[in-house]
Amino acid sequence: MKSTLTTLKTRFNQALVAAFGAELEGTDPMLVPASNPKFADYQSNVAMSLSKRLGQNPRAIADQIVAHLEVADLCEPPTVAGPGFINLFVQPSYLAAQLRAMQTSDRLGLPQAKHPQKIIVDFSSPNIAKEMHVGHLRSTIIGDSIARVLEFQGHDVLRLNHVGDWGTQFGMLITYLREAYPEALTTANALALGDLTTFYKQAKARFDEDEDFRERSRLEVVALQSGNEDTLKAWSLLCEQSRIAFQEIYDLLDIRITERGESFYNPLLPSVVTDLEAAGLLVEDNGAKVVFLEGFTNKEGNPLPLIVQKSDGGYNYATTDLAAVRYRIQQDHCDRIIYVTDAGQANHFAQVWQVARRAGWVPDHVELVHVPFGVVQGEDGKKFKTRSGDTVRLRDLLDEAIARARADLEARLKEEGRTESEEFIQQVSRVVGLAAVKYADLSQNRTSNYIFSYDKMLALQGNTAPYMLYAYVRVQGISRKGGIDFEHLGADSPLVLEDETELTLAKSLLQFDEILAAVEADLFPNRLCQYLFELSQKFNQFYDRCPVLQAEEPLRTSRLVLADLTARTLKLGLSLLGIPVLERM
Ligand code: ARG
Repeated sequence: MKSTLTTLKTRFNQALVAAFGAELEGTDPMLVPASNPKFADYQSNVAMSLSKRLGQNPRAIADQIVAHLEVADLCEPPTVAGPGFINLFVQPSYLAAQLRAMQTSDRLGLPQAKHPQKIIVDFSSPNIAKEMHVGHLRSTIIGDSIARVLEFQGHDVLRLNHVGDWGTQFGMLITYLREAYPEALTTANALALGDLTTFYKQAKARFDEDEDFRERSRLEVVALQSGNEDTLKAWSLLCEQSRIAFQEIYDLLDIRITERGESFYNPLLPSVVTDLEAAGLLVEDNGAKVVFLEGFTNKEGNPLPLIVQKSDGGYNYATTDLAAVRYRIQQDHCDRIIYVTDAGQANHFAQVWQVARRAGWVPDHVELVHVPFGVVQGEDGKKFKTRSGDTVRLRDLLDEAIARARADLEARLKEEGRTESEEFIQQVSRVVGLAAVKYADLSQNRTSNYIFSYDKMLALQGNTAPYMLYAYVRVQGISRKGGIDFEHLGADSPLVLEDETELTLAKSLLQFDEILAAVEADLFPNRLCQYLFELSQKFNQFYDRCPVLQAEEPLRTSRLVLADLTARTLKLGLSLLGIPVLERM
């Protein structure tokens, strides 16, 4: 059934707006979850904000609003407290009706966007021939989760991998390829370079030590830019090698993404320059073509230039992003473009967008958003490195998480005296290990730096993936133990919400839509994690206090419905974080 429930907050908002009357049309009801759940579920602070405008005391305004508020079907009679807070307490009967609607809906009654948008999420975006580092891992995990939420909300999302596959470094790499692997260019499949990190280092060493190598590299750059066939072949071989390594990580993490790398925009770069020139923005500065920025100045207070074409005629990262933003608006017809990169690139995007706007490429309805994140640190608070001081290979990091999850699992099985098949152990370790890495990243406010700790992320207690997965498994355990078919729970047996923990759990279940709407708007997946964590806690409190299988009817079925809805919410919520659930662990 495709029913959408008008969830709590929306219903209250509608009722408040109706109570305002024509005079106050368009006023924001300022509805927030109550600060103390003893006094209310929601409170509206609108009376205080209207007081000045209406020249009346806020309590009197609140009284008037309450007098017109039609919420009898939905909550206890509203009360006015303190200086003029309007307190709203949801009625158990309303909660029960909403939960029922949720139970029979195929998407837990969650609403879809009324105005679906075309959205690009530009994420992951590693660089060819350089290793994919932990920063790219953050971008991959955060970007994927944001894309999943937006897709679930009904938007048309294009996931783009803006791979760094072009630039002067290819001169050096191609020269080294010819030198070290001459057969690669003549024999098909002769090359298997792994993740190219070592290759890059060796090429760099040759470049630094040998003048003649440097000169050949320079000529390769020219050949590449002028489209020399043989050079292009070498270039695509290198890209192909990197792609294989990236894809391994994406497969492991279950990431879907479309590659549209920097080279895609090559043919469009000259027209970026001519368009900016026609818009009167372009200035010659020491032989380079630049746009002087507004609001970005150097130490002397003079405006900074954004270089669009270097004095040697070459283009750069910013030129490519200018071409990209224009293409995404004019050809992809995007309403919203989201860029997920480390916080260090904030200025880059602000500058590129400023130029794009001044050139008239960004219509008013288009939203350009940078989703910045902090750096990954080791447990010592320093930049995340291996013991020998090298950058951590992503593949190694993920394998290590899986290996540790396996060690934890084996210890637990031993303790519980359980024997499980090798297949089970592999499957559970893999899901738990990868979930732990993803969840640890997503549950932090992304703007802060985050400390990478295998021990913390794999802990069974606390705001971790294993804790959440375990809550889900607990519910599946109830169904196995009681032989319950959650799909066919008595739809005519009444829902009884009496115990404090039942009421709290019910209210929490009905707030999922608010959380998703918030993530859709501000793109902070940690809000979703926090919600799922609190939901699991509320479920555990309920489960510790209220017998389920042992309860009498109709309580028994009612509680089973609560358990099932919790599990379904956890499963859906985790899937939006890119985390699958387990039936047993
Ligand atoms: N390749 C870049 C890096 O590794 C990230 C690209 C982000 N996207 C973009 N449109 N600039 O830092």
